[in-house]
Amino acid sequence: MAPSISNFSSVFLVLLALYLGLIHQVMSLSTAINITISPPNYCAPINATDVDRVQFALNLEFCQAEYFLYGALGKGLDSISPDLAQGGPPPIGARKALLLNPDVARISEEIAYQQVGNIRSIVQTVGGFPRPLLNLGLINWGLFFDLALGKPLIPSFNPYANSLNFLLGAYAMPDLAQLSYVSAIPSLTTNSSSLSLASKLLPIKAGQSAVIRTLLYPNATQMVPPYNITVGEFTKAISQLTNTLGKCGIKSEGILLADTTLGAENRTTSNVLSADANSLSYARTEPEILRIVYGTGNERLPFGFFPKGANGKIARSFLLI
Ligand SMILES: *[C@@H]1O[C@H](CO)[C@@H](O)[C@H](O)[C@H]1NC(C)=O
Ligand SMILES: *[C@@H]1O[C@H](CO)[C@@H](O)[C@H](O)[C@H]1NC(C)=O
Ligand SMILES: *[C@@H]1O[C@H](CO)[C@@H](O)[C@H](O)[C@H]1NC(C)=O
Ligand SMILES: *[C@@H]1O[C@H](CO)[C@@H](O)[C@H](O)[C@H]1NC(C)=O
Ligand SMILES: *[C@@H]1O[C@H](CO)[C@@H](O)[C@H](O)[C@H]1NC(C)=O
Ligand SMILES: *[C@@H]1O[C@H](CO)[C@@H](O)[C@H](O)[C@H]1NC(C)=O
Repeated sequence: MAPSISNFSSVFLVLLALYLGLIHQVMSLSTAINITISPPNYCAPINATDVDRVQFALNLEFCQAEYFLYGALGKGLDSISPDLAQGGPPPIGARKALLLNPDVARISEEIAYQQVGNIRSIVQTVGGFPRPLLNLGLINWGLFFDLALGKPLIPSFNPYANSLNFLLGAYAMPDLAQLSYVSAIPSLTTNSSSLSLASKLLPIKAGQSAVIRTLLYPNATQMVPPYNITVGEFTKAISQLTNTLGKCGIKSEGILLADTTLGAENRTTSNVLSADANSLSYARTEPEILRIVYGTGNERLPFGFFPKGANGKIARSFLLI
């Protein structure tokens, strides 16, 4: 008995050390990167073809698809529509979430299947590529939330633990895809199939984001157990992390504001839609998106949700190795 308990606790200690070491690494990495890289055109649109731009979004659609498919159904794209993954490796660590709230369970299932159709349309319109390796495991989620809150959460954040956590994990996903389409659309060729498809995907991402934010809003002032942090504070922290990593200003705001400064017409503190001073959608370029989903603030340095980098010509063009 005694040896197995001590084995268990040493394994645990090694994991804990590894985990805390990772947090430290990522935090010092992002600080260092922040200081060293700030070229002038950091936020300007990049040069790319229609096909490359629409394919870029496929990375985000894959990530959101696997999170919702596993979370809602306990199985991923390889079980539902395996051809769409084009032989890409299965995601790391995705699992079924304990969704006891019936609205969250049914809406998550619906979003999961929406993702399958959205991926199929992209593949049929501009062609696809193999699904990139995605890390949706607990250590990565824990790191992402620790970075957002600026301190290690104890216990570490588990998005699969309950309905509320699952929504908080989902919170940034359709929003990032929405902002990516808003950025891409003005660059697409008039009357092209890419433009037509992107303009049909955009409202779906905006709708998914609004639904998630609206499900969270009534609970904004409620604590997220077991943390002494409210739902509203969590959304603010995640939004701020995406803004810090993206490095192109405020483009995401939490669901409840401390004052009316970022509210609609500077008059509201409710913030069910995250939008600019004229309540228009923000936009994020492809490199901005990569800085965020890699979690490193650097489009050339993959980590986080895409440990081996995103796929497609745009994302691969930034990789140094
Ligand atoms: C990056 O720089 C900005 C502006 O100088 C600062 O607000 C932000 O906290 C920095 N982020 C990190 C991770 O150091
Ligand atoms: C953008 O790419 C096209 C096609 O590769 C090229 O002809 C053009 O010169 C590029 N423009 C800039 C500003 O790099
Ligand atoms: C919001 O709080 C209510 C009351 O505590 C709870 O029943 C509901 O499940 C919560 N919503 C989510 C999405 O967790
Ligand atoms: C758009 O493209 C279609 C076929 O690709 C063509 O029939 C139509 O005339 C075009 N419309 C405009 C406004 O260019
Ligand atoms: C929870 O946070 C509030 C304010 O943010 C603070 O006043 C309170 O002492 C905290 N409670 C615990 C148990 O940490
Ligand atoms: C809201 O406040 C910002 C500055 O915080 C200002 O630039 C903007 O014009 C204001 N909008 C309205 C509608 O008053």
